Amino acid sequence: IGPDSVEVLGHAYPSDDYTNVTPRILGKVGRNLHNEKNHPLWLIKERIKTHFYSAYMGRGGNPLFSVHDNLSPVVSVEQNFDSLLIPPTHPSRKKGDNYYLNRSRMLRAHTSAHQRELVLSGLDAFLLAGDVYRRDEIDSSHYPVFHQMEGVRLYSNHELFSAVEGGEDLSLFEGGGRRTPQKQEVHSLEATKLLELQLKNTLTRLITHLFGPGVQVRWVECFFPFTHPSFEMEVCFQGEWMEVLGCGVMEQELLSTAGAGSKVGWAFGLGLERLAMVLYNIPDIRLFWSQDERFLRQFRVKDVQQAVSFQPLSKYPPLHNDISFWLPENDDFTQNDFYEMVRSIGGDLVERVTLLDEFTHP
Ligand code: PHE
Repeated sequence: IGPDSVEVLGHAYPSDDYTNVTPRILGKVGRNLHNEKNHPLWLIKERIKTHFYSAYMGRGGNPLFSVHDNLSPVVSVEQNFDSLLIPPTHPSRKKGDNYYLNRSRMLRAHTSAHQRELVLSGLDAFLLAGDVYRRDEIDSSHYPVFHQMEGVRLYSNHELFSAVEGGEDLSLFEGGGRRTPQKQEVHSLEATKLLELQLKNTLTRLITHLFGPGVQVRWVECFFPFTHPSFEMEVCFQGEWMEVLGCGVMEQELLSTAGAGSKVGWAFGLGLERLAMVLYNIPDIRLFWSQDERFLRQFRVKDVQQAVSFQPLSKYPPLHNDISFWLPENDDFTQNDFYEMVRSIGGDLVERVTLLDEFTHP
């Protein structure tokens, strides 16, 4: 492998002016913490699987949702963005926020990157767990590699309305409609409202299964290019609201290009670390990468439903450093480049890097 290519999972990708993956990040690809037996991320994935298997049955009494947890994190830029109707100029495509192998391949920034291919393969209900990569500042709840679980559920006209009184007369689509904050132009209001209700009920049941009935959650309206309407769910953790998932009614255009234009559906993507932090009382997201026995052994339970409350371990006393430096005029300095340099030297021992102040001499 020469300097003009990068190797990921045994495959060489030619580099170009977009290449920005670092050896530190590549070192995490293939770790698959979510597939490591008794790792807290595996535990929470198993709990979510068990819940969906037992709560949702197909017609033959078989589990409705299939589970996929072995899809490669190397995806095309097309999968990660275009397939989800994310416009070519959308800020989420920035080099500064993503890990590109080159102009056409990247490490997936979310598990939604696989929505279209799995719908195209004919699936109507699936869960998908995987590692995702985003260039970000590192602190106790942010790390450039984390794990998501995606869920998708499609409905035919009959499936969505069969439980509703007079449902035979309702229809998923309506001609000549307008896009409003409530719905997409092609959907009937009944279809959207029912989908939204099913989606929120599904997620509330899941969260209640995970945390018990005492958990406080709230819904926040938001925007994603691939769902409308869209919502975020926040969970109260240590007195603060923490965003744990994004979801919404799938854009009909996405379903049409995925060969499922006659159905409607919802999708969600949840952060496994965030949920595990709340569930097991893990105070810092970096601990998930720990190889320390004192961390790992706390999660070796016989039954995945068994409660675990993490007992913190401290290794080093805290130390603060202030650094100031001059930037030449017109310098194309990127904050994330500096953070990555600090990380490449200090590793996960660096608890936090923050910009305290900026000053430009008049
Ligand atoms: N992919 C979105 C994210 O990572 C979450 C999401 C998934 C939103 C599915 C809507 C539907 O933020």
